[in-house]
Amino acid sequence: MRSASLFLGEFLRRPAEVASMVPSSPWLKRRIVAAASLADAHVVIELGPGTGGTTRALLSAMPEASQLLSLELNERFVESLRGIEDERLIPCCASATELETQLVEHGLVAADVILSGIPFSRIDQRQGAAIVDTVNRCLAPGGVFVAYQLSRRVKRFSEPVFGPAEVAMEWRSLPPIRVFRWQKPSV
Ligand SMILES: C[S@@+](CC[C@H](N)C(=O)[O-])C[C@H]1O[C@@H](n2cnc3c(N)ncnc32)[C@H](O)[C@@H]1O
Repeated sequence: MRSASLFLGEFLRRPAEVASMVPSSPWLKRRIVAAASLADAHVVIELGPGTGGTTRALLSAMPEASQLLSLELNERFVESLRGIEDERLIPCCASATELETQLVEHGLVAADVILSGIPFSRIDQRQGAAIVDTVNRCLAPGGVFVAYQLSRRVKRFSEPVFGPAEVAMEWRSLPPIRVFRWQKPSV
């Protein structure tokens, strides 16, 4: 409940950045986790974890010997993430644009999975393309990129890099959300 009110409060303060009045629904979290193929992941990155609902869902599906680097712009949300007691989690107050630096800073190599809830619909062309390029550089061969989004705009940045997306719609979210999935070639 506290996380729902924090989420709404931050949405009212920064609507373009938070982009949703409520955290992801249980159905959406399940769909994101299924799309991410986490069973054998060693390094997972989350862009825009918010108050940590999606973070908890990812941690519950990740192996014991794995790490989750979560990059969140909003300091209040990062405070909430720091309350999650799980040694695998590395919460960072940073933008998705700083992904590569953060990866190196935390001694991690390439990621097996990168998930993004950041609103690509509100990000300008140059920054959107730069974030997806960084995702590509930080993703291991065969790695998976999942973006859950209100709009299709993320395709504009991702398809030139990763090719056509697999897309699923989660209708039990308000409003319904698209889940895009790409897999980087293995070689
Ligand atoms: C739609 S919310 C998703 C929150 C959470 N993952 C969920 O599904 O409930 C988008 C989140 O992305 C964060 N965000 C927006 N732009 C960002 C950026 N450039 N880098 C990191 N986080 C960002 C916002 O602060 C917000 O927490």
